[in-house]
Amino acid sequence: MHHATVTLDPAFVVGPVRPRTFGSFVEHLGRCVYTGIHEPGHPTADADGFRGDVLGLTRELGVTTVRYPGGNFVSGYRWEDGIGPVEQRPTRLDLAWHSSDPNTVGVDEFMRWARAAGVEPMMAVNLGTRGVQEALDLLEYCNVPGGSSWSDQRRANGAEDPYRVKMWCLGNEMDGPWQIGHKTAHEYGRLAAETARAMRMMDPDLELVVCGSSGSGMPTFGEWERTVLTETYEHVDYVSAHAYYWEENGDLASFLASSVDMDHFVDAVSATADQVRAAGKHEKRIHISFDEWNVWYQNAEPSAPPKGDDWPVAPVLLEDRYDVADAVVVGSLLISLLRHTDRVHAASLAQLVNVIAPIMTEPGGPAWKQTIFHPFALTAAHAKGEVLRAVVGSPTTPTAKFGDVPVVDTVATHDPETGEIVLFVVNRSVDAPVHLEIDARAFAVGSVTEALTLANPDVHWRATVEDDSSVGPVANTSLKVADGRVEGELPPVSWTVVRLGRDAGA
Ligand code: AHR
Repeated sequence: MHHATVTLDPAFVVGPVRPRTFGSFVEHLGRCVYTGIHEPGHPTADADGFRGDVLGLTRELGVTTVRYPGGNFVSGYRWEDGIGPVEQRPTRLDLAWHSSDPNTVGVDEFMRWARAAGVEPMMAVNLGTRGVQEALDLLEYCNVPGGSSWSDQRRANGAEDPYRVKMWCLGNEMDGPWQIGHKTAHEYGRLAAETARAMRMMDPDLELVVCGSSGSGMPTFGEWERTVLTETYEHVDYVSAHAYYWEENGDLASFLASSVDMDHFVDAVSATADQVRAAGKHEKRIHISFDEWNVWYQNAEPSAPPKGDDWPVAPVLLEDRYDVADAVVVGSLLISLLRHTDRVHAASLAQLVNVIAPIMTEPGGPAWKQTIFHPFALTAAHAKGEVLRAVVGSPTTPTAKFGDVPVVDTVATHDPETGEIVLFVVNRSVDAPVHLEIDARAFAVGSVTEALTLANPDVHWRATVEDDSSVGPVANTSLKVADGRVEGELPPVSWTVVRLGRDAGA
């Protein structure tokens, strides 16, 4: 049994909980759109063909923003293919995923879906095969009320009011050699700067995201951000970060410490952005849009795109089946994102449905929850108010990738309106429980309102369409309050949410 302590204090505020931390991502990739969010003829489909069961699970997940339409897909996308009468839309080859896209779903359908799901749309423009003009055309179509060619076409297509999309990504992963239209940092930085400048001429209120690195392991990581931000600093608001993690060669200890890399990633990008700020004598700060993050088994079979003359519509791609350990890592990555709320102002779990996703669907059949659904939904539901840095006293555990890491990682939130304090905590030990002592006397904590732990003796248990609920978060009755301190046990390889209420008499 390990012993760990956590101290909370109202003075340890990092910043507000940002709703956009709980964003997700819908790409024209595999079955994310077709038979994912969209399946005309499905028993739950609405008049637009959107699956009602998926809409319901999206709301239950607590997703706030959804990035669209890619991803690697966007770097070859012609958005005009997806507007107007559906029967006249062309089928195009999608080079990124070696698939065909019938364009049945386009920008108008996505906006209707976003409205039904209650999420803020976050659009990406193609800076792979396209440039300033096409980005402006799409912006005009989406955000100009009327009286111009593209805005009037939107009205003719049934959307009288502009969509007024605020957040726009200037391309996707342009540092990646796999990207269609991949560029050097300097080439991309110039194009992004001019695209951003022109987009702001049309709509000054936009929030623009310039591409950072596709991972902290990219050979250009750091220098890419420095060059791109030097070119674009005054024109953009965010730099993106993308990170995927997976358990390699059975090394569970390193996998459970994946958030160490995310912490490092955020700190390094923040330092680089601040260095460019200082060198350029800029006043504003650039924040981070962590707009792709998740566990992804990139070398597994479902991630291999089709080949040759086979260009299927909506093939099974990237349909990872997540286990309990994957869910614990997703929970710990959310802890890292929250901890950096002063710098990470938006994030997108990649992706939403079927493709490395918390929600899975059977064509014609039910939708179901993967294990990673739970830590996301519970964090989105209970992280309210302000983020508090937690002072942790924890033993360490050795890992091959990251050296010695604390066994316990945690972050807390405090909602000044309700007085509720919520702790999100992981036990990264592969085999030992932790006795946890939370010192929250500064808050006069009176009760544990709710404590839920996600763990399982078999950490490789996976949900299926037949059984997505026999393993999930369950009440952790060991956590109790005594003299303002909370004590209890966390099983190995576990993620826990602890909700604490104030002492009514305090
Ligand atoms: O989310 C899957 C893919 O991962 C995205 O298309 C791309 O941006 C990233 O490499």
